[in-house]
Amino acid sequence: MRMFEPPKPAAVLLLVLVLWYSAESAIAVPSRSQLHQDALQEQRPLVFAQQGNGEVVEIGETKGLKGRFLHITDFHPDPFYEPYTSTSSDNACHSGHGPAGYYGAETSDCDSPLTLVNATFAWIAQHLASEIDFIVWTGDSARHDNDESIPRTESQVIAQNRLLVSHFRTVFGKHNGDEGDDDPTNDFTVPIVPSIGNNDILPHNIFEEGPNHWTKQYASLWRSFIPEEQRHAFEQGGWFYVEVVPDHLAVFSLNTMYFFGKNAGVDGCADSGEPGYEAFEWLRVRLQLLRERGMKAILSGHVPPARTDSKTQWDETCWQKYALWLRQYRDVIVGGLWGHMNVEHFMLQDFHEIDWNVLEVDGTGEDDSNQGSTKKHEDGEFGIASSQDYLKDLREQWADLPTPPPGMFQEELVKEALSSISDDARPEWEVEHFVRHQPRALKAKKTKEEKQREQFLKEIGGKWHERYGISLVSASVVPNFFPTMRVFEYNTTGIDLQNAFDKDGKTGLMRAEEVLQRLAQNQAVDEQLGEDSDDEAAERKKHKKKKGKKSKRPKFTIPAPPSKSTPPGPAYSPQPFTLLGYSQYYANLTEINNDFHDSSLAASTYSSAAEEGWQETGEAWMDWFGSILKWKEGKHHDKKPNKSKPRPKEFSFQIEYDTRHDKLYKLKDLTVGSWVKLARRIGTKEKIDDATISDDDLVTHLEDSRSLIEEEGRNVEDGKEVDTEKKHKHKKGKKKKDKKKHKKNKVWHAFINRAFVSTMDPGEIDDKYQ
Ligand SMILES: *[C@@H]1O[C@H](CO)[C@@H](O)[C@H](O)[C@H]1NC(C)=O
Ligand SMILES: *[C@@H]1O[C@H](CO)[C@@H](O)[C@H](O)[C@H]1NC(C)=O
Ligand SMILES: *[C@@H]1O[C@H](CO)[C@@H](O)[C@H](O)[C@H]1NC(C)=O
Ligand SMILES: *[C@@H]1O[C@H](CO)[C@@H](O)[C@H](O)[C@H]1NC(C)=O
Repeated sequence: MRMFEPPKPAAVLLLVLVLWYSAESAIAVPSRSQLHQDALQEQRPLVFAQQGNGEVVEIGETKGLKGRFLHITDFHPDPFYEPYTSTSSDNACHSGHGPAGYYGAETSDCDSPLTLVNATFAWIAQHLASEIDFIVWTGDSARHDNDESIPRTESQVIAQNRLLVSHFRTVFGKHNGDEGDDDPTNDFTVPIVPSIGNNDILPHNIFEEGPNHWTKQYASLWRSFIPEEQRHAFEQGGWFYVEVVPDHLAVFSLNTMYFFGKNAGVDGCADSGEPGYEAFEWLRVRLQLLRERGMKAILSGHVPPARTDSKTQWDETCWQKYALWLRQYRDVIVGGLWGHMNVEHFMLQDFHEIDWNVLEVDGTGEDDSNQGSTKKHEDGEFGIASSQDYLKDLREQWADLPTPPPGMFQEELVKEALSSISDDARPEWEVEHFVRHQPRALKAKKTKEEKQREQFLKEIGGKWHERYGISLVSASVVPNFFPTMRVFEYNTTGIDLQNAFDKDGKTGLMRAEEVLQRLAQNQAVDEQLGEDSDDEAAERKKHKKKKGKKSKRPKFTIPAPPSKSTPPGPAYSPQPFTLLGYSQYYANLTEINNDFHDSSLAASTYSSAAEEGWQETGEAWMDWFGSILKWKEGKHHDKKPNKSKPRPKEFSFQIEYDTRHDKLYKLKDLTVGSWVKLARRIGTKEKIDDATISDDDLVTHLEDSRSLIEEEGRNVEDGKEVDTEKKHKHKKGKKKKDKKKHKKNKVWHAFINRAFVSTMDPGEIDDKYQ
């Protein structure tokens, strides 16, 4: 890196910041309480309040927070798409004659027609625009290079990205006439945080160290989204952040191209010469600043930190740093939002997997201590994994989650029992009393249980499951399945926006960022490297003890952990900015395109396409062999439309499921603890009457088991039905199933169904995902 120099330990940097503040009082950063006091003293009305992207408005005009935001990803607009062309790999919905629908060829690898993009924004304008506080938009906003006769060009990639920006402007632009002023960031009604996808650059998957052509292109294209003071940093690395709730919450756009294992232009995050290394330095300093200011952060980016035996997206050194950062800043980070894989799912980052042998590799390229990890994460080694392998791997991981001892939540059971006797809920003290005065036998048992309970809590990182981080992957707009998007709800209790801005309409964080930018350009400061903070020293010492003599000094500053007195962060315990739930929306293109209604006709061919053909769209399709691999032709591929002109129905998204009311997932919120419980339920394979099963939510568990039994009964019936009605269908699969009589884990099946946005035939899920 030319402009950014090597590590800046947080302690030194912050000290410098403090000095800088006192030296330059003109840019002093007022604390929140200071501002508050000023306001009180002057007895002036609190005139400053945020509106959307940080514009300062009079308090009377404040819209207030809606407590919702949109996550949307992977549009892949394709201006060459033509309806009623062929979905085959040779045609890619550009030519030939076939089933490509007016709004897109669902379940195929074709890209999105502009009609779909248009209709999606029109729908958002009508149904969401006034309901959300900000937008996380995680990239891949250009078509794939999927047609030899129309190769992708740079001007296409940019024009398609520009098209999407203009759509966002149409729906979320203020249109107040000041678009021409010198502040492009005040043109939108809500903050929008885009990130760079692997198809937003050329050649796709290759992204070199910045500043480069592409970082400059996007600095220009996204000038309305990137805060002024970060423009320069963005040109360096393609990363930035936005205070989506000023002085309270920031969304980070990470440039995952620098973490992406497939990016041949860079090499991981361990070597201080790599942009991936710089990305984590940049992120650490900002997260530290947010911590100091009592703010929270959502991380986002295009390529998710997927890491299973069959599929790994990031270079291992980047994953390691990410996990370490998540752990150290677990008081700040709300969670991670990602796109790219098109399969909707979630993943847990297990902090026990943090491996100092990987983190400590020095820059010489010698890797005597990290053989295990490099081997595992060599890209070509897995070949092209199917979604089936990947999702099953996830389940295997989750099957190994620590299980609470039976009876761990006895108190809750007692409470439940008590409350069902009487209409009045029993007070805490009464329950405690009851438990304490149980018969001796029970009591003796309980001390043993108590031990197990302690052991369990130790294993999962305490009551709030602080052993894990959470990453949520949304499926795409491009209809590899059905077009989809997510609206999150978050906790806005007690969030006070009144003192977010100073008299110049700046937040403390904006001030600090200005200083950081100046420091970055003032290279002299970067010389001040060196001393570990106490926390770092302690961390290193701990590590040394574990690893013995082999320890090498890490070449990076270890982020400071939360202080001992800091309560758990919003990812762990319910508080402001904790994610409460999300609604997953989808557009049923089969219905809307209105071409093929007899879905049973295509069921068999389609389902195998959905399950085997998954390839992160275009990712693998020319990977290593230079030939087309596993192109998905979609469920209608063998059909021809019976019309000369498309007659689509009215376009609309509908709710696939809403976690706040979902009886299968039972997520009472989106804290890590809730996800761990869900993951454990998905991972469960034993039969329900096995005494070995336990769950920390026994009631949930009983319900699950009841549905397991019901499901099985229904399956057999279904089987008969199918056998008599459609003898020729799924014959093989059915037979197998009847013989095996597998117990069905309803939650796992729901997870699979949702991974493919409800496009997969339930019978197929039964067969393939036992
Ligand atoms: C999309 O909408 C714009 C106007 O909003 C229109 O000019 C354009 O023709 C539309 N494109 C398609 C493909 O429907
Ligand atoms: C939101 O946060 C508040 C206070 O931090 C908490 O009391 C409340 O229970 C939370 N709400 C939900 C729905 O979790
Ligand atoms: C989508 O629409 C088709 C055709 O109307 C219907 O058969 C199918 O069940 C629908 N799927 C979902 C998930 O809504
Ligand atoms: C096309 O659909 C019409 C009814 O909409 C039907 O009468 C006709 O037989 C169909 N033609 C073919 C070739 O399927």
